[in-house]
Order: sequence, then C-alpha cells, then structure tokens
Amino acid sequence: MDIGRINESDQPVKLSGYPKQQPRRIRQNPLLRGLTRESGLSAGKLVAPLFVTEKSQRKPQPVASMPGVVRHSVSSVAAEAKELSKLGVGAVLLFGIPKIKDAQGSGAYDEHGIVPQAIRAIKKAAPNLAVIADVCLCEYTDHGHCGVLSQPGISGVIMRKPFKVRLWRPSPHGSVDNAATLPLLAAAAVAHARAGADMVAPSAMMDGQVASIRKALDQDGFSSLPILSYSVKYASAFYGPFRDAAASAPRLGDRRGYQIDPANLEEALRETALDIEEGADCVMVKPAMAYLDVVRAVKKEFNWPTAVYQVSGEYAMVKAAVARGWLDEKRTVLELATAMRRAGGDFFITYYAKELAHWLSNKRGA
Ligand code: PBG
Repeated sequence: MDIGRINESDQPVKLSGYPKQQPRRIRQNPLLRGLTRESGLSAGKLVAPLFVTEKSQRKPQPVASMPGVVRHSVSSVAAEAKELSKLGVGAVLLFGIPKIKDAQGSGAYDEHGIVPQAIRAIKKAAPNLAVIADVCLCEYTDHGHCGVLSQPGISGVIMRKPFKVRLWRPSPHGSVDNAATLPLLAAAAVAHARAGADMVAPSAMMDGQVASIRKALDQDGFSSLPILSYSVKYASAFYGPFRDAAASAPRLGDRRGYQIDPANLEEALRETALDIEEGADCVMVKPAMAYLDVVRAVKKEFNWPTAVYQVSGEYAMVKAAVARGWLDEKRTVLELATAMRRAGGDFFITYYAKELAHWLSNKRGA
C-alpha cells in the first residue's frame, strides 16, 4: 500500500499492511475512539501525563519547576484518574519513578513495578478512562539514558591530562546499545499490557522499538493492543522540568545520540514512515509549539492518528508568565490547543489537560 511520499521526488512508502497494521486495534476499544476522532476540540481529545512514584509518601509531592504537577502515590494517582474521567478527559499517560534505579532499568519491566501497580489501581477506580503507558528506560536507569549503555559507566568519559577535563565523547554508533535495549522495552510493554493498559507508548527513540514491541505483544496474546509511537521526538531543551519530575536527566552526555536534531524535518518524516511500517497505530510529534510545522507535515504525508505532546518546558513557560501576570492563562492555553488542532494533531498530551477540560466544558462548541 502506498501511504504517501517523502518529498515530492522521493519513493512512496510501502506498507506491509495486515497483520502488522490493523486499523481495528483502535476502533475495537471505545476508550480510544474519541482520541483519534478527526474533528473538534473537546476534553475527550486530551491526555493527562501523570507521574507516579514508588517511594513511600503520604501526600503527592509537588514538582518545583511544574507548578500544579505532582508525583503521585498509587492511591492518589487512582483518585486523580477518577476526577479526570469525570471531566471527560480522554486518557492518562503514565510515567513511573521507581524506588531503586539501576544500570539495566529493571524497574521498567518489573510486572509488579510502579506503573503496573498504577494501571491496576486506575482501571479499578476509573474503568472508562483510557490508560496509556509510556515505555522507556530513562526513569529507571541510574545513568538516566533511555536504554542500556554499551559500556556502563565508562563509555564516553575521557580523562585528559594535564587539564583533567571530563569529556563526553559518544562513540560513532552512540553509547546506548540499541540491540540490547529492544528486548527490555518489549518486556516493559508486555508488563504494562498484562496490567491492563489500553495502549503502550514507546518513547526511547531506539531503532526498531515499535517492531520489537509489536512482536512481543503479539506473542503474548495482545495482538489487539495498539502502539502509540513517539515517532518524532526531538532532542529538546523543553524537557528540562520533566527530568526534574522523574529525576531522569542523563548523568553523562545528552540524548542527541538517539533523539532527532531540531533542525531536521525530512528525518522526522522518515522516522514516522519507519514506525508506521513497523506497526505503529498512532504516531506523535513532540514537543508541540516549536514543531507545529512538523505536525502539519506528518499529518499531510501520512494521514495517521497523530498525537501532539505539549511538554514540560512549554507548560512551565506558560505557568511562569501567568504567575507574573504577563499572560492570561485560559486564553493562552486554549489558543495553543486550537493551534495544535489547526496544524493537524488529533489528540493533545498536556499537563493542562484537567484545566482545559474544565474550560472546554464551560465553553460550549469550543
Ligand atoms: C522519556 C520521556 C521524556 C519525556 C517524555 N518521555 C524525557 C526525555 O526525553 O528526556 C519528556 C516529556 C516532557 O518534557 O514533558 N521517557
């Protein structure tokens, strides 16, 4: 099947189709239909990212750089999900913070880990809310990278005499071991599926991650469970506050070895084509505001259900300006959500989901 062209002059993208691609994966789950509906702006098109931590705590802990956002316990995340569900929010997207981080990110694929616990609790408290589980290792690794390192602790660190500067020198192939990471991501996806997630969302930017997750899900009896791929994830400065929230800033180096260079659009289209080819049911562009041209291009090229992620730094920017009285919060946030739809996004992942749902319910026909 020809699903579009990359640049006018280029090759059409060939799709292998069924069984890798099954449009019914989305249609079969009534909780996901609203997200991918092609018109309108409503609470049902919003996805609220939620952080849940395994560290014992009584009250949810605020995240300093994201006013209004907290790290939840399992019970508070379930209560929050119930409220979001009542407001008509389409879905939650879960990020886990484990008690212990290690080099292999074991907490990410522990069947009794924090996210599987949260999924079970949310499904009990709010059965009509779609639960999407982020699939990545960075919140679970002690080095903070999205996969396992080829030489943990050593690679890329060079001591230079006489200056004694520690330099980060990624190897030509990147210091994160792609092949070794794939089975771990697949195991994480299966653990989330078994806990009851409606959709899994791989965000590690490893090559082949969608294919390996698809295969693992199929083998585990989850051939109907859809994948929302973070297909276009830029190496962005706007993720700073998230890394505070999840304590996941890389300890050495940065993520440019696997996330896309902000200068690149063709590469974004290639990544999307590859993910669709591998079996992605929904694709994503992230961040939002600085990349609406990319949203437009992805939608135009592929006509695929497309999520747009307004990331932590975008949220923090608006909150900071609002706190100083420089911007009108409601108007600003509604304008950004409208722009996301105008650019071609189908659903909107935003830390403003709850407030937006309120505002949209008070503003008929929005
Ligand atoms: C990786 C992941 C990140 C975000 C979502 N998934 C962090 C990163 O790449 O550093 C960032 C989201 C945000 O900034 O709101 N698991």
